[in-house]
Amino acid sequence: MKVLVLGSGAREHALVWRLSQGSGVEVICAPGNPGIEAIARCERLDPTDRAAVVRLVKHEGVSLVVVGPEAPLVAGVADACRAIGVDVFGPSARAAAIEGSKAFAKEIMFAAMVPTARSETFTDAALAARRALEWGPVVVKADGLAAGKGVVVADSGAEAAEACRALGATPAGARLVLEERLVGPELSVIALCDGKRHALLAPAQDHKRIFEGDRGPNTGGMGAYAPANLLTDAQLEAIGREVVAPVLNELGRRGTPFVGALYAGLMLTDEGPRVLEFNARLGDPETQPLLMQLAEPLAPLLQACARGELDRGALQQRPGASVAVCWPAAGTRPPPSSET
Ligand code: AMP
Ligand code: GLY
Repeated sequence: MKVLVLGSGAREHALVWRLSQGSGVEVICAPGNPGIEAIARCERLDPTDRAAVVRLVKHEGVSLVVVGPEAPLVAGVADACRAIGVDVFGPSARAAAIEGSKAFAKEIMFAAMVPTARSETFTDAALAARRALEWGPVVVKADGLAAGKGVVVADSGAEAAEACRALGATPAGARLVLEERLVGPELSVIALCDGKRHALLAPAQDHKRIFEGDRGPNTGGMGAYAPANLLTDAQLEAIGREVVAPVLNELGRRGTPFVGALYAGLMLTDEGPRVLEFNARLGDPETQPLLMQLAEPLAPLLQACARGELDRGALQQRPGASVAVCWPAAGTRPPPSSET
């Protein structure tokens, strides 16, 4: 079986590495990176270019496409590949809106009665800023994709109002979501989904702040480990039942079934787990330790999801734990003092 992995990050490296271990599996990656090139053939193309991806799939006789990042999903690459009859692990553009639009994600959560923070959506940034002053400490979110820079956790109404004005002036901020500020440890729970059914990967935790000692601004994640034993097995099952399953039902009911990795970013509050966000893809860097821990062959699992044939709830896990540490290129320097 020939598998095409789209993307160029460490997450895609982990996917290619794990997929290549399957017997009878040949993996190619587009565009890949120099690390991936050491273990698989890479083809240079823009993974958001639907026509280029379709050409490669046809030319290579690919039977399964695995989409890593969100940009190709939002650009409709999964739809374009499905339209030519290829199995795809990754949701349609319409289902991927659960990540691409925070307002849409809140609408789905509300309709599916998923536990989440109270929120209000605005199309007028000035109105949002006035409301933020009334709310006080509140979280301001730009609706669209903003490369991890679209969320401000404000300590005061004034800071929140300023965030409304700043985010409202960005392309992602045409709509703004104000959200109740929750407190508690965060956890990433990722479900492999076939449109109707799902299987949960181990819970993982990523570390968001850029500098040592949990200092500095948030990033997409400087490292991650799995399993993160912050929940009992019963609590994890409840997340499958009360978060993942209702969202799959709701998206299916709307005619946009979700096939791929549904990533629930949760906060474990005193009142129970609450969803902060959904991603329509595997997390990065969570995927790296998660795939170290997974004890099952990956290609048949992703293919079963792509075909709507996922037949198991629990995935086999290796004993122990895995840790991923990011080794980023030099860039922002840490503050000299202990300021955060
Ligand atoms: P998001 O992109 O929605 O996951 O937000 C990015 C980060 O902002 C999360 O990982 C949290 O650390 C924080 N955050 C988001 N929503 C809330 C909330 N309602 N309460 C407190 N912190 C939040
Ligand atoms: N590590 C967070 C993310 O993948 O969005």
